[in-house]
Formats: sequence, C-alpha cells, structure tokens
Amino acid sequence: MESDVNWHNARALLEWQLEMGVNENILDAPIDRFALDTSPYKTVKRETTNPGMAPKIDPVAIAQKMSQNASSLDELRSIIGAFEYCELKQGARNLVFSDGNPKASVMIVGEAPGREEDQRGKPFVGRAGQMLDKMFSAISLDRGAQDATKSIYITNVLPWRPPQNRDPDLEEIAMMFPFLQKHISMINPSVVIAMGNIACQALLSEKGISKLRGRILHRHNLDILPMYHPAYLLRNPSAKKHAWADLLTLKKKLG
Ligand code: URA
Repeated sequence: MESDVNWHNARALLEWQLEMGVNENILDAPIDRFALDTSPYKTVKRETTNPGMAPKIDPVAIAQKMSQNASSLDELRSIIGAFEYCELKQGARNLVFSDGNPKASVMIVGEAPGREEDQRGKPFVGRAGQMLDKMFSAISLDRGAQDATKSIYITNVLPWRPPQNRDPDLEEIAMMFPFLQKHISMINPSVVIAMGNIACQALLSEKGISKLRGRILHRHNLDILPMYHPAYLLRNPSAKKHAWADLLTLKKKLG
C-alpha cells in the first residue's frame, strides 16, 4: 500500500505544526509537562475552587517581598530567576534581564522577550531591537556607550518570553511589576520610555498608545514618555514621524 506521507503531505503537516506554535523542535533539556502541572501557581488556581482547603498564595505579595531583598542589579536578577510563580519561566530558554548602561538617564521598558531575545538572554536584539537602536542613535544615544549621558538602559515588563509571542496577560504583568519597580528605582533614570501598550499598561495602568504617546507623564514619582513600540513602527512606517517627534521631546527633556 502506498504511504500517505508524500512530500506535499509532509510539508503541510510541518506547516500545520508551525501554525500551532511548534517553532522549536529541540530544547537543551527535556521538559516534563506533567511536573509543570504541579507548579505552585497552578495549585493556587485550583485552590480558589476549594476555598478553605489551603492558605491562598498571592504571587504579587511574594514578588513585592522578594524584590525588596535586592541590593544590587545582580541580586535582583537572581531573585527574579528564583521567582517560581510566573508560568512563562517554564517555557523560556533564558531570563532576559537588561542591556545597556545602568548609569544612563534614559531607561527603556519594552514588553517581553521574543524568540531572539529568549535565545540570547538580552532584550531587543531582534528586528525590533535593530529598529530601536536606529531610533535612539538618531538622537546620539547608544546602548553600548560608556558615557552615561550618551547611553540608554533597556529592560522589559516581563523577563520571560510568552509562548508564540502572545501578549502578556494582566496577571503576569501584575506579578512581575514589583520587580520592574525595584529595577527602575535602582537605575533611577530621569526619563522612563514606556515602549508600546504593554509597558503603558504596566507603568500607567492604561492602554491606547496613540493617545498616550508624545507627552511626558508623571506617575509613581517618575517621568514617563510613552512611545510607539519599534515593532509597531516596522509594521506601520507612516507612524515613524510621531516616533521622531517623541525622540525630539526626549532630547529636549534631557537638555
Ligand atoms: N520586543 C520587546 O518589547 N522587547 C524585547 O526585548 C524584544 C522585542
């Protein structure tokens, strides 16, 4: 009998897998999906249907407590790495913490790592990252600069890549926010750039980047400038003129 698996069928099957999100076929180590089911955070979800069975775990409160223990950036990175309540950690290859000069006056907060960032453990190193570098070099800022006045510091709302680059959900944003707050307070920038809607959601509790962008807002004792995300600019080149206007606003603010 002739096999059903001819070249066309095999290709269609592979494409179907890609569409379903199977974009990695080998990881460095096997993942025991049954063991993942017993993660503390899953247990919390089950407990809510059985109130009174076990003490309720509050990942946000735990994150607040853990973040307070950090007294250096290295410590903060290790503490985030030890936080077990965000399921994204299970599927990520690497923790993506930051890049750039910690002494910079400009701190950029993006959304979450994508595929390249997850592989390399650094934020904004894919296509959107190249766009970001181009944008800031237009006002003479560069993540590699030693001179603090010419550099930037980059992090994300979430340190782990969401599967298939889906949007982070509100629960994930809320539980990782204490770490972001601590991170920002350690860098103590004069301006925080909220790159796109997810960063605006985390830092301003608002979405609607088209309305929010272009003005420096004052929240959490910070000056926050919302800007279009570079990935959005790649998809919508006509919005680049707004990004340029926002870069000039930033330049003016920095003097
Ligand atoms: N997009 C982000 O928001 N952050 C990254 O690190 C990469 C892409």
